[in-house]
Amino acid sequence: MLNIPLALTYDDVLLLPKKSEIVSRRDVDTSTRLTRNISLRIPLISANMDTVTESQMAIAMALKGGIGVIHRFLDQETQVREVIKVKRKQHIVIDHPFTISPWATLGELKNKIAELNCNGFLVTDKENNLVGIVSRRDTDFITDDSILIESMMTPKTKLIVASPDITPEQARQVFRLNKVEKLPLVDADFKVKGLITQKDILIYGNNETAKDAKGRLLVGAAVGAGDDFMERAQALIAAEADVIVIDIAHGHSLNELNAIYKIKEKFPQVELIGGNIATAQGALDLINAGVDAVKVGIGPGSICTTRITTGFGVPQLSAIFNIASVCQRHQVPLIADGGIKQPADVVKALAAGADTVMIGGQFAGTAEAPGPVITYQGRQYKISRGMASLTAALSRPNAKESIQQITPEGIEARVPYRGSVTNIIDQYVGGLRSGMSYGNAKKIDDLRDCQFIRITEASRVESGSHDNEIL
Ligand code: XMP
Repeated sequence: MLNIPLALTYDDVLLLPKKSEIVSRRDVDTSTRLTRNISLRIPLISANMDTVTESQMAIAMALKGGIGVIHRFLDQETQVREVIKVKRKQHIVIDHPFTISPWATLGELKNKIAELNCNGFLVTDKENNLVGIVSRRDTDFITDDSILIESMMTPKTKLIVASPDITPEQARQVFRLNKVEKLPLVDADFKVKGLITQKDILIYGNNETAKDAKGRLLVGAAVGAGDDFMERAQALIAAEADVIVIDIAHGHSLNELNAIYKIKEKFPQVELIGGNIATAQGALDLINAGVDAVKVGIGPGSICTTRITTGFGVPQLSAIFNIASVCQRHQVPLIADGGIKQPADVVKALAAGADTVMIGGQFAGTAEAPGPVITYQGRQYKISRGMASLTAALSRPNAKESIQQITPEGIEARVPYRGSVTNIIDQYVGGLRSGMSYGNAKKIDDLRDCQFIRITEASRVESGSHDNEIL
């Protein structure tokens, strides 16, 4: 008993400031690895919880350079649809552009413009060969709706086209030099293979966003390890989710290892995150089974009661410390999941060895989180709930247990409504950049050279604002 180790969490420590060579907070690089093969511009992930991440949150996260993981407590079809909404939000190449026949009339074109909310169409013959482009500009001064597209389109001889394997950088050059709005992609026979628009290439140039090779926003999706996980994983992979998260409370278990083997066996190319775990042995077993990142956190979450229901868990900072060396040895990124209350916690998690941080409660009160804004005693709130809370367990699509049979390991909570998550992300990234300058860390890895000190309860009080009334 005398050898029982002490474990620490974020509020138990501070980081020692270092002599800094960083002139401006803008000079630090916040990019990091999410999995073996996926990088993010900022180390933030929105949690796979039903009060945190569906498509709207995932889009906002990826636009800011992070990623959201669509939760699994939706029926399969709905979860797939949420993934597709994120993947369709932006792209470089439109694989199947809208087309119109050269023998259609102006009247038909006007109907199509109104129906599809699209101002320009590729004009193609019956064999899908490109014969021209027609846009609203070509039609502005024509009043006779029976005139054929053929006689008003810009013909193929005057078009700038490119081959389907053009790179985004080459496409950008073509737009710059030729001042066109649309670049059709055609094969050697002039068959349409795609379309790049000026608008999409400009968005692609925004280096803040987290995107795949086709310029589409990154998105993750969670599966369990129960009956339907293979079918669900297959559907999510077919919908082009960039990463699959096996989301079970006790990830260091045969159930999870079995799920990892099966998914990796059938889809060896998929980027797979396993969790949750809180020990070095847990990380090692998941890594040996084939995961591409491990998710760490048993019980630190804002709505978690696992530790008080079961007596098990590891204070989050120690969990990260204990696992980081295993992850570094195997070059597998570590996700610190749960317990983030303020920007400083992100800095501490990364300094302890995490590569990214997953956030639930702090994002649950935002406009992009699922669920309505509620007003209580004149103030606005949203709901945040644990995925093992009573109401979450009861509302699962295939819930089998009655209310008396459920032992919750999470709670339902009211969190203040905070407007757009974009502002919250900015606060977190601002805190991280500032923290990196205190630690002379030009990149996130450098934070690991910083030294932690343990503090007392009195120091913790001193760290917050004190001896005044907050306005
Ligand atoms: P924060 O602190 O960011 O934590 O709200 C989010 C993480 O909490 C975990 N989670 C749970 N843990 N019971 C638990 O013990 C639950 O009901 C529960 N629901 C979510 C999860 O890892 C999430 O990312």
